[in-house]
Amino acid sequence: QLYRFRSIGVDTPMYGVIGNPVSHSASPAVHNAALSVTGKEGVYFPLKVDAEVPHFIREMAARGFAGFSVTIPGKLVAMEAMDKIDDVARRIGAINTVVKKEDGTLEGYNTDWVAALSAVEEKVEGGMQRKRVLCIGAGGAGRGLAFGALERGARHVVVANRTKAKAEALAADLGALASGIGLDEMVDEEEFDVIMNTTSVGMSPRVEDSPVDKRLFRKGMVVFDAVYNPLETRMLKEATAAGCVTVSGLEMFVRQAGEQFKLWFPDVEAPVGAMREVVLKRL
Ligand code: ATR
Repeated sequence: QLYRFRSIGVDTPMYGVIGNPVSHSASPAVHNAALSVTGKEGVYFPLKVDAEVPHFIREMAARGFAGFSVTIPGKLVAMEAMDKIDDVARRIGAINTVVKKEDGTLEGYNTDWVAALSAVEEKVEGGMQRKRVLCIGAGGAGRGLAFGALERGARHVVVANRTKAKAEALAADLGALASGIGLDEMVDEEEFDVIMNTTSVGMSPRVEDSPVDKRLFRKGMVVFDAVYNPLETRMLKEATAAGCVTVSGLEMFVRQAGEQFKLWFPDVEAPVGAMREVVLKRL
């Protein structure tokens, strides 16, 4: 069902996810399903690339590729291949989506932050306005969510990261409403309304790990974990036990893919429901 192509020819537009590893990525299944459901022409491939990402993007774009998803470790360097970068993506300093325009130019976007924030905001009473937010991780995803939270009106964002210097550097970029701390300093902080993990801590097979001390959780707090394998991480289990409202990384994954699909095919609705089903079936 997922790979029902009417015909593949020299003009079939190609898409793909660039990163390493990509062998377990759900993106090919999700995007091929979306192409199939919407009847759009195209094929989407896993593309294992971890060196010379900008060169690869330019070469492939010149050879029939019409768009790319970019994942670790390419999100920062991929920007070098772009002719134009969306303002927010530029401020975040990372792209996860490449769109080839009709004239062959390449545009970079970041759909991670909108995806995660929209999923989280649905659960937070009154949205991000005036909220105190703890953002764990200062990589590409962490930067996106921290910028996004402030963009949506958060009162204060604390960035906690294993490498404290990176948290401090990100906080400096974010401005007066942000501060940076080390992972071990989280419990000394004020109370938060929202806690978001963007690190890979807790991801299968290391499911016993959690990036956050459960003493931080309070009833009614909204807790988001970008990890979606397993669907319910130790962090989310402990948050649920403490009476928090939780948001799984599955929502971020599905919505970032939906936003990508919209960028590639602005004239159709992204079939987010079908895309979510595909990921759930794989887990
Ligand atoms: P992404 O684009 O998903 O954010 P990234 O840019 O590689 O990926 O960033 C990974 C983040 O996860 C970083 O904040 C990293 O912490 P460091 O800056 O100290 O490297 C964090 N991270 C990864 N593995 C971790 C681990 N085992 N413990 C704590 N933090 C970890």
